[in-house]
Amino acid sequence: MTNVDQVMTSLKKIMDPELHKDIVSMGMIKDLSIKDKKVSFTLELTTPACPFNSEIEQEVRNSMQSIGVNDLDLRVTAKVMEGRAISMDELLPKVKNIFAVASGKGGVGKTTVAVNLALALAKTGASVGLLDADIYGPSVPLMLGIKDSPPIVNNKIQPVISSGVKVISMGFFYEQSQQAGIYRGPIVSGIIKQFITDVEWGELDYLLIDLPPGTGDAPLTMAQTLPITGVLIVTTPQDVAMNVAIKSIGMFNKLNIPILGVVENMSFLVCPHCGENTYIFGEGGGQKISDKFNVPFLGEIPLHPLIREGSDLGRPVTLVEPDSLAGLAFGKVSKLVAGRISVIAAAVKDNDIAEKASASPME
Ligand SMILES: Nc1ncnc2c1ncn2[C@@H]1O[C@H](COP(=O)(O)OP(=O)(O)OP(=O)(O)O)[C@@H](O)[C@H]1O
Ligand SMILES: [Mg+2]
Repeated sequence: MTNVDQVMTSLKKIMDPELHKDIVSMGMIKDLSIKDKKVSFTLELTTPACPFNSEIEQEVRNSMQSIGVNDLDLRVTAKVMEGRAISMDELLPKVKNIFAVASGKGGVGKTTVAVNLALALAKTGASVGLLDADIYGPSVPLMLGIKDSPPIVNNKIQPVISSGVKVISMGFFYEQSQQAGIYRGPIVSGIIKQFITDVEWGELDYLLIDLPPGTGDAPLTMAQTLPITGVLIVTTPQDVAMNVAIKSIGMFNKLNIPILGVVENMSFLVCPHCGENTYIFGEGGGQKISDKFNVPFLGEIPLHPLIREGSDLGRPVTLVEPDSLAGLAFGKVSKLVAGRISVIAAAVKDNDIAEKASASPME
């Protein structure tokens, strides 16, 4: 009859393709029990949006078959790891990962990418928030078609929930403030800080921050206020956009914020007649940046009318046409981003263990 050791030894041979560690050492096997010939356990993945979830599950099933387990009760769950070292007195202790969407240049599609990624991650079952840090020109409410205002309960602002994503934006407060877009630097920083401290975010797996263009106050405040897991750089294939994206990467490097990767937006146009891809702004730019800076290339998003229309109408493509070429592209990028965050989170966990071990050496 199969015993616990046999099961664990067999499962230990399965490697997580991104984390390069076996699934037993990563603590992914929980609640193992063997009763008569029935083997039961839970496979706890590092994110519901992991690009390799089904592959890992299949490998686990194959592994059990290879040691003669025919009666397998396998439960598959996911628990997002913390990609930042969280101490009790830190801001947002219940938020596991914070990541910003940035680009040096305006209009390259940061907000479009942030909104669609937030929705795609929420669809996998993750708990997701979206903070619109564009105080001068907030476009998140429009892109999500939000008309409600955030209620205030016990002096805390409650985010508006849109398709499962908790959202906060200066756009919700314009009517009250009557002074859209004329804030000075310190006011911008103050508002972003308030969005962090005075908003009831609750427990989140991922908090996305949609940054305004450039290298101004918003990214600096964010970097100085929050322990963030990383930044996703959005670029378009034009040289001007790529040059500014490079400057942006330089800034985040100086601030010691990890770059999650580069996403190339408006990469190619799909001919509605013949289906051929035309690279109107040139090909391979995002890939070049990622090679040069040794950061992962996380994919291409096509230039597509569905994306523009969806944003203008407040009906993002990820919600209304998830199986279209554009919808699938966002789904793919969201999984790669979640995968990158798991890798960073695993490194944070290792560091933590190493630090604790060195702080209390064995006697
Ligand atoms: N892949 C795409 N295909 C078609 N239209 C797109 C695509 N990406 C973005 N757009 C459109 O381009 C415009 C600019 O996009 P968006 O507002 O997301 O850019 P941004 O980088 O956030 O701009 P800003 O710097 O002003 O914050 C919007 O009208 C949006 O609908
Ligand atoms: Mg924007």
